[in-house]
Amino acid sequence: MKNSLGLLLLLVAIIHIVRAQDQQAGFISLDCGLPANEQSPYEESFTGLRFSSDEKFIRSGKNGLIRENPEGYAKPYETLRYFPDGIRNCYNLNVEKGRTHLIVARFVYGNYDGFDLKPKFDLYLGPNLWATVDLQTEVNGTAEEILHIPTSNSLQICLVKTGETIPLISALELRPMGNGSYITKSGSLNLLSRRYLSKSGSDLRYMKDIYDRTWVSYGARFWTGWTQIYTALEVNNSNNYAPPKDALKNAAIPTNASAPLTIEWPSGSPRDQYYLYAHFAEIQDLQANDTREFNILLNGEVFSDPIIPKKLDITTVQSVTPKTCQEGECSLQLKRTNRSTLPPLLNALEIYAVIQFPQSETNEIDVIAIKNIEAVYGSSRISWQGDPCVPQHFIWDGLNCSNTNISTPPRIISLNLSSSGLTGNIAAAIQNLTQLEKLDLSNNSLTGGLPEFLGKMKSLLVINLSGNNLSGSIPQALQKKGLELFVEGNPRLCLSDSCRKPPKKKVLVPIVASVASAAIVIAVLILFLVLRKRKSTIVEGIHQPPRMSMEEVTFANKNRRRFTYSEVLQMTNNFQRVLGKGGFGMVYHGTVNGREQVAIKVLSQSSTQGYKEFKAEVDLLLRVHHTNLVSLVGYCYEGDHLALIYEFLPNGDLKQHLSGKGGKSIINWSIRLQIALDAALGLEYLHIGCIPPMVHRDVKTANILLDENFKAKLADFGLSRSFQVRGESYDSTLVAGTPGYLDPEYFPTSRLAAKSDVYSYGIVLLAMITNQPVISEKYHITEWVSSKLNGGDIIEIMDPNLCGVYDSNSAWRALELAMSCADPCSSKRPTMSQVINELKECLVCENSRMSKTGGMEYQEMNISLDTSVVPGARYGLNPMGQTRFCEWQFLNAIPIVDRWRKGLTAGNC
Ligand SMILES: *[C@@H]1O[C@H](CO)[C@@H](O)[C@H](O)[C@H]1NC(C)=O
Ligand SMILES: *[C@@H]1O[C@H](CO)[C@@H](O)[C@H](O)[C@H]1NC(C)=O
Ligand SMILES: *[C@@H]1O[C@H](CO)[C@@H](O)[C@H](O)[C@H]1NC(C)=O
Ligand SMILES: *[C@@H]1O[C@H](CO)[C@@H](O)[C@H](O)[C@H]1NC(C)=O
Ligand SMILES: *[C@@H]1O[C@H](CO)[C@@H](O)[C@H](O)[C@H]1NC(C)=O
Ligand SMILES: *[C@@H]1O[C@H](CO)[C@@H](O)[C@H](O)[C@H]1NC(C)=O
Ligand SMILES: *[C@@H]1O[C@H](CO)[C@@H](O)[C@H](O)[C@H]1NC(C)=O
Ligand SMILES: *[C@@H]1O[C@H](CO)[C@@H](O)[C@H](O)[C@H]1NC(C)=O
Repeated sequence: MKNSLGLLLLLVAIIHIVRAQDQQAGFISLDCGLPANEQSPYEESFTGLRFSSDEKFIRSGKNGLIRENPEGYAKPYETLRYFPDGIRNCYNLNVEKGRTHLIVARFVYGNYDGFDLKPKFDLYLGPNLWATVDLQTEVNGTAEEILHIPTSNSLQICLVKTGETIPLISALELRPMGNGSYITKSGSLNLLSRRYLSKSGSDLRYMKDIYDRTWVSYGARFWTGWTQIYTALEVNNSNNYAPPKDALKNAAIPTNASAPLTIEWPSGSPRDQYYLYAHFAEIQDLQANDTREFNILLNGEVFSDPIIPKKLDITTVQSVTPKTCQEGECSLQLKRTNRSTLPPLLNALEIYAVIQFPQSETNEIDVIAIKNIEAVYGSSRISWQGDPCVPQHFIWDGLNCSNTNISTPPRIISLNLSSSGLTGNIAAAIQNLTQLEKLDLSNNSLTGGLPEFLGKMKSLLVINLSGNNLSGSIPQALQKKGLELFVEGNPRLCLSDSCRKPPKKKVLVPIVASVASAAIVIAVLILFLVLRKRKSTIVEGIHQPPRMSMEEVTFANKNRRRFTYSEVLQMTNNFQRVLGKGGFGMVYHGTVNGREQVAIKVLSQSSTQGYKEFKAEVDLLLRVHHTNLVSLVGYCYEGDHLALIYEFLPNGDLKQHLSGKGGKSIINWSIRLQIALDAALGLEYLHIGCIPPMVHRDVKTANILLDENFKAKLADFGLSRSFQVRGESYDSTLVAGTPGYLDPEYFPTSRLAAKSDVYSYGIVLLAMITNQPVISEKYHITEWVSSKLNGGDIIEIMDPNLCGVYDSNSAWRALELAMSCADPCSSKRPTMSQVINELKECLVCENSRMSKTGGMEYQEMNISLDTSVVPGARYGLNPMGQTRFCEWQFLNAIPIVDRWRKGLTAGNC
């Protein structure tokens, strides 16, 4: 018997607990600063709610205990959490997205630290300021209360230090509200007042209010013009709001039955917006001939239809739109209608002010992902609290976010966890950061393989995994263009091609590509063999003796070879340094044998269009060799990896040197002439020195590269065509070249195409002389020069960066030469051989000027204004030859290299 009674009592106890839990489903009641092992959770005596320690919801702060308690504060106020470290400290709470929540934060100082120094600080809800907590004014403590609809399933409540004093918090309470209650057009609701109309009575909370709102009786404020009425009967309170029945049992009516019932409160500004919730229930016994009907007016305007309170049953009148008040005063009036026999009545009233939270929280998926990453690595950083991206000055360490405007959720675009002591695998959660552009996990102790998913993240541009202990191979998916991958310093990682994982599925395109690639490699190999056999014949066939030194020949033959893709990866250190972007793909810097620098042009796998051109370039470059043409060191053909390996020219291209972009120095006139001559020699070789002859078809300043001594070499043969081999792979509809440099009389085929190169070359020369844009909105460079020629002043035409330091005779000759090359009529253009002869003479003039001035360029300005020697009298040179003061930015930047060629002697200048 005893046993079964015990069992019964136990069952009753269990049922009781289960019910209590049901009623407070979703409630979060935190007694801040309560040590987790001490009496946690406990049942709070006033509400009967279980309060627990806040330790699981925040990772910073210290526990404090109040020393003074004159008010007899309830238990949740006795302990507090304070935050001596960090600026922003945040609670992270799980909530139901889209549901209205009541959030209450309570603060009591109680001289916990013995300094009697009451704090003032800010309270944030996610990324938005919620309130300033000022315990210097509210000396007995205060609470902030809000009705808010979270936009995600987690909610951050942050305390932010704003001055010297240390933020603290005593209690934090979250209560999900009734479905569909307290919905606003925009913003959340800050509590101004929640009262029930009674002269006396205690505060009503849980259990009386199932949502644990606090209802305060009017008490002493109960106006003398009102009469309180009361019922002992049960009042039905069931609607979305469900105010406590005990509140609805009370009501006020105006004592003067014909007077309105008025409630007023001050309004901060006419812009402040209010939401009102008025609760009515008829609690008087009405006679058959009695009617109670009244209108609700806010500031004199009718607020709703006339109200007839239902007998012992609730009617809630709510604001649908926000209301504003004029003149600093809000006035709510209940006025009986003229058919009403009874005065109006009010049982309970809630007044809220709208608070806007304009800053969007970080994209929820990103937040979940970054928290998962944090959890996987167990890395705890003090700044990793609250919203990851916003406010911007609280952005988490190591993150960068896109923050275009405050109403769009920010996205995480960069994650830097380098040197963070990370262990284990690369976290899978990273793939959910779908907008990530940069990932840096370098210098940790990560192990395991490189996951495939990194290659599938569309936004990723840079991945740095160097200095870890990763193993396995690099998945195919990660070897894609536009993705920079750094993996050096992972000794167990296999970089060679043999351990590359095969792609999972073969689709048509790669098969086609590899068949085509196989055709190329065979063609290349055949050509290579033919070339080796016929080298002497080719040399004999050249009209002019080749200008190739022995050293260059041996270099070329010894090193021209095929490389594997893994060698390319090694050479480029996994494509670490980008030199530029060519017509077919990216150009990377690399080193062969650890010392010889090369430029590696990789054919983009996506670029099917460049494929034919790539093949053409391989064929061509294997045949062509000249000191003024960029030479091919080798090539790579493997699967669908195609790359050309060129000699590396450290001084960039001519275009950069003319513009001074990328820290490139401005080059002086003498070197410009030499560069022009070099380029001309390269072109001449293509046109007549090479069998079969060729056209370059894309001569421009960007395609003239400079070595360490500013010797020029023509690059980018991708568009070159052997113009004697007709019809073979030729597409006559394809117009090759660059706007501005394009021959107006464009010749797709035949010998005349060489004259198109001459035209482009003329434009290059004009650009070198004038440093004007080749093509602008208003004019083409030839038009610009023509217009200036009418003025006849060479100084007006020459690049101002030259500061007038040039032999004006050589300048005129070069200009005339350039204009004749760029003649619209191809038959009037010189051949490249004629160009070369003229340029040599220009150089001689310029060099004799330089030897007169001792090679020094620190001269008086007028030294170069040798305007008496004017060959083209038709240009009518301005004899006054004005000059201007110039900064000599190029003087020491450039080694003045003596690169005169043999056979050039001073002419008659
Ligand atoms: C704080 O409490 C004390 C004691 O109850 C009271 O005298 C004082 O007026 C209160 N101060 C404020 C600002 O409410
Ligand atoms: C809450 O309201 C929504 C629509 O307003 C409804 O779909 C949902 O079922 C309701 N949930 C509950 C628990 O009543
Ligand atoms: C209270 O009102 C609701 C809706 O009006 C009704 O469904 C419910 O039965 C009522 N409860 C009582 C006890 O009268
Ligand atoms: C009662 O209120 C009405 C309307 O406001 C007013 O005209 C009347 O004078 C009031 N009566 C008394 C006794 O105050
Ligand atoms: C309503 O009826 C009662 C009697 O049932 C009467 O005393 C009272 O004067 C009537 N009130 C009005 C406004 O007619
Ligand atoms: C009383 O109500 C009627 C109709 O509802 C209206 O015509 C009349 O003007 C009202 N009288 C007063 C004094 O408001
Ligand atoms: C974030 O971006 C800024 C400016 O773009 C840059 O200076 C900073 O280094 C970046 N931080 C990280 C962690 O990538
Ligand atoms: C990525 O997010 C989805 C939901 O958004 C989730 O189901 C999945 O588990 C996440 N993946 C990882 C690896 O965290």
